[in-house]
Amino acid sequence: MGLREDLVRALTDSGELSARWREAFLAVPRHAFLPDTIWYSDPLKRLSRNENPTEWLAAAYADDCVVTQLDDGTQDGPGLATSSASMPAVVATMLDLLDVEPGMRVCEIGTGTGYNAALLAYQLGPNNVMTVEVDPALARRARAALDAAGYGGVTVVCGDGLEGCPELAPFDRIIATANAQRIPYAWVEQTKPGGRIVCPWGTAFFSGALVSLSVDADGVARGGIAGRASFMDLRAQRVSPVDADADIYDEERATVTRTSLRTDDVIGSYDVNIAMAVLVPDCHALPTADGLWLIDPTSRSWAYAADGEVRQLGARRLWDEVEAAHRSWVDAGSTRATAWRFTVGPAGQRITPRR
Ligand SMILES: C[S@@+](CC[C@H](N)C(=O)[O-])C[C@H]1O[C@@H](n2cnc3c(N)ncnc32)[C@H](O)[C@@H]1O
Repeated sequence: MGLREDLVRALTDSGELSARWREAFLAVPRHAFLPDTIWYSDPLKRLSRNENPTEWLAAAYADDCVVTQLDDGTQDGPGLATSSASMPAVVATMLDLLDVEPGMRVCEIGTGTGYNAALLAYQLGPNNVMTVEVDPALARRARAALDAAGYGGVTVVCGDGLEGCPELAPFDRIIATANAQRIPYAWVEQTKPGGRIVCPWGTAFFSGALVSLSVDADGVARGGIAGRASFMDLRAQRVSPVDADADIYDEERATVTRTSLRTDDVIGSYDVNIAMAVLVPDCHALPTADGLWLIDPTSRSWAYAADGEVRQLGARRLWDEVEAAHRSWVDAGSTRATAWRFTVGPAGQRITPRR
């Protein structure tokens, strides 16, 4: 058996690949969409197709994310992943959530390698697939890979996917493969009533949710968390990384208080992480071996809680915010991740507990 068949069998056995998408995963060669240089594993290891052909090919058919660009393609950045071929199990889960039927027109936001677009093209016909990539070099690469693999009919648009793809709308489905903190209303406007939007959602506090929304006849999208996966951010909504060493200011001036809340109480489960992501905006949570940093570089605010002691400073009292959010979450019955209701209308995104 080949590597591709092995991957398909493993995904089928684990229940992550449905019968509906099995044939597409067998037919579309993932390696044909990867560049010669990739970064793989944790910590990231550079693999070259010429120098490490066996490892390179094994990475193409492992159930793991393959990083295909660092630092927006610049040479001297810190080594942040800015494009990738997503983990096959996640690709399969998202495509299943998308619930496509023959003849549907689908717009993907975040072309990356073009692999996901090729899977959609196999299933729906290339002419029914449009894909938007913000990075011109990646868009060109994906265009060439799609052509070479026989999916020349897919439309690749280079542009900001936050605006969707108004010139080719309306669509039956929109799928984003980059994380949205705020799901843009443009996607709702460009989806037909009865249509569906699937995208990763998360904030600086926590990101790791797949949201599925249906677009109602009133032009508002409604839905909720339907799966777990962590993605890189959409470029314009990028959460810049923080560094506890560089983003803490005037430690001597911090106020010191006590708390009965433990780190685990506020980051110890998926449900509480999602709640904090919803309730405490623009706040990074960085756990350490002993405690938890909370940092908002924009307002130059930080808090550190460990062993019942809290130090905090800045325009925002971040630990107080987290404590208040945690209290309201518990008072509301500890809302499960899947019980938040997402609504995206002309006024933007709202996330509220389901009643
Ligand atoms: C995880 S990768 C996508 C994987 C891709 N679907 C595949 O099959 O290879 C995320 C991609 O989203 C792109 N991206 C980020 N922000 C974007 C935006 N505002 N509009 C369009 N694409 C964006 C990134 O450049 C990156 O290529």
